[in-house]
Amino acid sequence: MAASLPNHPQLRGNYAPINFEATYNDLVIEGTVPTGLSGSLYRVGPNPKFVAGAYHWFFGAGMVHAFHVNNGQVDYLNRWVRTPKFEREVELGRGLNLEISMNQETGQFATDRRYGVANTHIVSHGEHLVALEEGSHPFSLQPDSLASSGYGNYADGIKGAMTAHPKLDPETGELHGFGYMSDHFGSNTMTYHVIDRTGRTLRSDTFEAPYAAMVHDFIITRDYVLFPIFPLTCDLSRIEKFGFPFAFDASAGAFIGVLARGASVSTIKWIEAPVRYVFHYLNAWNEGTNITFDAIDFPVAPNFPNVDGSIPAYDDAQGKLTRWTLDVKTGVIDRQQTHHVAAEFPRIDDRFAAARHRHGFIAGASQRTKGDGGLFHEIRHIDCETGKVQTWDAGFGNGVSEPVFVEKSADAKEGQGWLLATVYDNHSATSSMVILNAEAVEDGPIATAKLDHRIPYGFHGSWRHNG
Ligand SMILES: [Fe+2]
Repeated sequence: MAASLPNHPQLRGNYAPINFEATYNDLVIEGTVPTGLSGSLYRVGPNPKFVAGAYHWFFGAGMVHAFHVNNGQVDYLNRWVRTPKFEREVELGRGLNLEISMNQETGQFATDRRYGVANTHIVSHGEHLVALEEGSHPFSLQPDSLASSGYGNYADGIKGAMTAHPKLDPETGELHGFGYMSDHFGSNTMTYHVIDRTGRTLRSDTFEAPYAAMVHDFIITRDYVLFPIFPLTCDLSRIEKFGFPFAFDASAGAFIGVLARGASVSTIKWIEAPVRYVFHYLNAWNEGTNITFDAIDFPVAPNFPNVDGSIPAYDDAQGKLTRWTLDVKTGVIDRQQTHHVAAEFPRIDDRFAAARHRHGFIAGASQRTKGDGGLFHEIRHIDCETGKVQTWDAGFGNGVSEPVFVEKSADAKEGQGWLLATVYDNHSATSSMVILNAEAVEDGPIATAKLDHRIPYGFHGSWRHNG
């Protein structure tokens, strides 16, 4: 029998989990779903069925929501990711702690990195569909039924964990990823992975970062792989002081590891960088040794304490789209804020990943106020060449997810296509999937596929083409 969940801000409102798995065929549609849109939108987020002790949103069991779109019709289903931890909790009828922590005696991880929550991102690669969470290996799911296939079916040979933000190179079809704290908890070791379309591990090489830090995302270009390390540092002695090992420590400095594609990790060059914090990158490209990347850039690490135990000031917890340039030869870095509204969840037309992009899509929050739970209420298109911005506002109080771009056709120009996102309606406490014309975002949805229930706030998702 499932017990009621504790009273916690991240278990209330639309952060609260739903306690069912549903299958709905032929959703009610407002507007018209383009007949050229054929595939599935997957989204994943924390949705604990059980909670053990203290809760944090990042550690709730993953639930996947799928919208299968075909011939103007939308079918929907949601399923928990049936990780070994989740299955064991169901069996016991109670929550278990996430054992990513180390053995206090040895410093080694308590598990083989196959005991995660699979709640952060869901991506398709070749025939594979995998749910990801940065402390663990990829977890495979069946694309139609969302049935759990488990760990070890994809990237079986990687050492350490896999980021939730791997990068698929459209030219080579290879997926690049990394892990941090690869040797043991609190270690500065990282691992660089390359996986082919069949799910085979081509390389998984360990190297040392300047210090141990939480590293959520990274970037690739046609010629380089970059590992930006910002000082959300890990110090095990903080566990006794604050009960938590991670804090933002500006004194540690920031460094960007630059690796030429295909080279040995022993050749990584560490370039000192401005002290900021970045969870997510929009994209990166290089022209010779000059690298450009767009990031959602924060003055400190939001959602984490500063090194003195203080909580970041409200203004410091707002991320803004910022363009960074880096000259690999000289080490000179420049950064300029390019969009002044608080934003997150940056996405591009993925066919241009690792190459020069023009169009960016983000979730924005121009009316954000302190205490609103950090929600995003707008979808924004940014033309990075002209600076022109188009915004669709779902209404303050409602919440939009990360916008996922789908091209109109394989040979469509960059940015010609649709944006798909889920929207939570605060008044009806239901969610829907919206489809926008990516070239006319301010016109609002061209189709809305409506659910009778809500999708709790989650993290990331992606599109998988049919056929
Ligand atoms: Fe993320």
